[in-house]
Amino acid sequence: MDRRNFIGMLPVLPMVSALEKNEKVGFGPIVISTWDFGRYANAVSWKTMEKGGSALDAVEKGINLVEEDEHNQTVGRGGLPDREGHVTLDACIMDQDSNCGSVMGLENITHAISVARKVMEKTPHVILIGDGALQFAMDQGFRKENLLTPSSEKAWKQWLKTSKYEPRMNIENQLYRKQPPMPGGKDNHDTIGLIAMDVKGNICGGCSTSGMAYKMRGRVGDSPVIGAGLFVDNEVGAATSTGVGEEVIRCVGSHLVVELMRMGYTPEAACKEAVLRIVKKSPEKSKSIQVGFLALNKKGEYGAYALQPGFSYAVKTAGTEIVIPGKSYYP
Ligand code: GLY
Repeated sequence: MDRRNFIGMLPVLPMVSALEKNEKVGFGPIVISTWDFGRYANAVSWKTMEKGGSALDAVEKGINLVEEDEHNQTVGRGGLPDREGHVTLDACIMDQDSNCGSVMGLENITHAISVARKVMEKTPHVILIGDGALQFAMDQGFRKENLLTPSSEKAWKQWLKTSKYEPRMNIENQLYRKQPPMPGGKDNHDTIGLIAMDVKGNICGGCSTSGMAYKMRGRVGDSPVIGAGLFVDNEVGAATSTGVGEEVIRCVGSHLVVELMRMGYTPEAACKEAVLRIVKKSPEKSKSIQVGFLALNKKGEYGAYALQPGFSYAVKTAGTEIVIPGKSYYP
């Protein structure tokens, strides 16, 4: 089913303030993911878990939907290219047993998260990059295709006129909500991060992106870096991030959030602490970039925190289907 038909079947979701929402959802299947478009991924993940499917399958299938959506210019097919016009994808996945797989700079394959899963399941390695990742994907039966859609090519050619390289805050929601751009730099970034807990209480997560638009050729952000863009510890919970990956890597952000939850922080407090770490390390830069963290703990509690307003996340449980504006450090 293509995304438009799929979306047509979904009800309009309420936007719920995190303050209005009781973040304790109790034990049971749950899926949370970054940005407004996470709701579509969540719906697919939920269908998988509703039938008794694993959190791992739920993560892969939910993210696959976003990767296929060529109207989404920050993930998968239709992603904005690097400055030389190549669409290069980064993704990683991690399961309840701390197995993990990752691809960096993968070209011509839409489902980067599925290739990452194959790396996890079929190789003795964790990360494959570039041509090696592509070769592996083709050996595994993935189909090669052109990921640069006419609309992304047009945007890139427009960008070439100035070649000004600055991250654009909350581009994910700008492109989705078709709102006027927020103040901030020009074009850039990113990511679907999705965390699921299944009926058995197992937590898995995944992250997939075309990275920062018009990035330097070969640039890799946080999304495929285990511990930065994603971390899962099935005893504690999981976290994922979105935004300017360089800052997330510098504080190993998702691992930090999970370790803080291990120490007793709530998911939101842990995400906030990771954001504060970024502010402390990069006080000036933090004013003009976006980074958001999203986390789930073993009790089914979730929370998020971002540098800037504009970040949102989507939550699906048996009784809840909502998109929540993330709280932020800067007003
Ligand atoms: N967070 C995605 C990136 O920086 O590439």
